Amino acid sequence: MVDVLLGLQWGDEGKGKIVDYFAGKYDIIARFQGGPNAGHTLYVNNQKVVLHTIPSGVFHNNTLNLIGNGVVLDPVTFKKECEKVAALGIDLKKNLFIAEKTHIIVPTHRALDKASELSKGQEKIGSTLKGIGPAYMDKTGRNGLRVGDVLKADFETAYGKLKTKHLQLLANYDFTEDITEWEKEFFEAVAFLKEMNIVSGEYWLNGYLKEGKKVLAEGAQGSMLDVDFGTYPFVTSSNTISAGVCTGLGIAPKWIEEVIGVTKAYCTRVGGGPFPTELEDETGETLRQAGNEFGATTGRPRRCGWIDLVALDYTCMLSGVTQLVMTKSDVLDAFDQVNACVAYEINGQQTREMPFQLNGLSIKPVLEHFPGWTEATAKSSAYSALPAEMKKFLSFVESYLNVPVQYVSNGPGRDQILEK
Ligand code: GDP
Ligand code: IMO
Ligand code: MG
Repeated sequence: MVDVLLGLQWGDEGKGKIVDYFAGKYDIIARFQGGPNAGHTLYVNNQKVVLHTIPSGVFHNNTLNLIGNGVVLDPVTFKKECEKVAALGIDLKKNLFIAEKTHIIVPTHRALDKASELSKGQEKIGSTLKGIGPAYMDKTGRNGLRVGDVLKADFETAYGKLKTKHLQLLANYDFTEDITEWEKEFFEAVAFLKEMNIVSGEYWLNGYLKEGKKVLAEGAQGSMLDVDFGTYPFVTSSNTISAGVCTGLGIAPKWIEEVIGVTKAYCTRVGGGPFPTELEDETGETLRQAGNEFGATTGRPRRCGWIDLVALDYTCMLSGVTQLVMTKSDVLDAFDQVNACVAYEINGQQTREMPFQLNGLSIKPVLEHFPGWTEATAKSSAYSALPAEMKKFLSFVESYLNVPVQYVSNGPGRDQILEK
């Protein structure tokens, strides 16, 4: 069986911590989309670790980890990440596997990402500049290189062809940088990648499923960044919703059981694009400081706002979410009043449905108000011991979304999580 864990907002919901918490219950943790744009934070022996491409199960002895074909892998960032994890005593040759159909990010993908963003000016997406968009464009454009290609004798020739194509495109953007150093680093990293466990991801995973092994598919980014259903064009380039699991791993839908959706008790977004509940005032700043809302990949300050139940209802529907994990409840400890957006008011009309496009619309979030709590949820040792006001807020969220909040995470630490 396969359970899926994914973010329901605009990313950074705390997926890494929650996957790490659940990982012991699973035999395999598999990433199915995204790439080094992700930054998943976990605490191992009280030490902070940020993972980008490697699944968040690597710190568990009896868990195998798969980078699925739906991921885009940059050998350069991957090598650095592996070295960081290996320094913590983890033998990745034993517990990490990479699907041979995983697409590769080459240095000119990063250059194209940057050039494309610069050319957009005010309209820029706010990409992490890791080459994600250009790499997925080459995948769907049928020009890409895959991890299995690095094992072939003609890899350098294939790489050269792709680079030439990219340099032609980059010429339109006045790109003049010397890429010799980048290429040197890239080929060193490719040599490193060749030594890792490169497998047929789909046979590898289906084989284990037939043996009865339990798999957790780890989402990256968030559902509102999904290329089809997110706030297009301010999205990432992959399917971040549960449908992406089948194509991103090569498994049939029949294997999927629980879909665990992770949401913060409020909401954040990093990069450009619409954000109906955004607070561009002192309250937003308090959320940012209390929640330490600065990007795990880019260090950029995250935009902050109240929880958006219209968006959550939409993303729960898209992925068929069966249970919720609410993270960062402790951050709301700082507030006398907590708000939740229950409808969008557009041109004087209220709606609970996600419009075709959010940008260009003047959206007033309709807020439901809840009294804050005086006891710190950070100190609660059991779900039942959460302050009564917090419980009211939780049951409102549950009834609006019609999905149970099965877990509340009340701090960044590995054990700071309460089960219902
Ligand atoms: P991810 O991309 O979804 O894995 O999330 P990130 O790692 O980018 O961002 C989540 C941040 O919140 C990290 O700094 C986590 O350490 C932190 N975090 C996770 N859960 C909690 C929580 O319940 N409370 C607090 N205060 N911090 C949390
Ligand atoms: P995790 O897995 C938050 C955002 C970027 C930008 C848009 C497109 O840590 O939750 P891209 O680099 O994909 O072309 O950027 O998507 N973005 C994320 N925001 N968390 C992430 O990942 C993100 N990955 C991409 O900020 O707005
Ligand atoms: Mg993150």
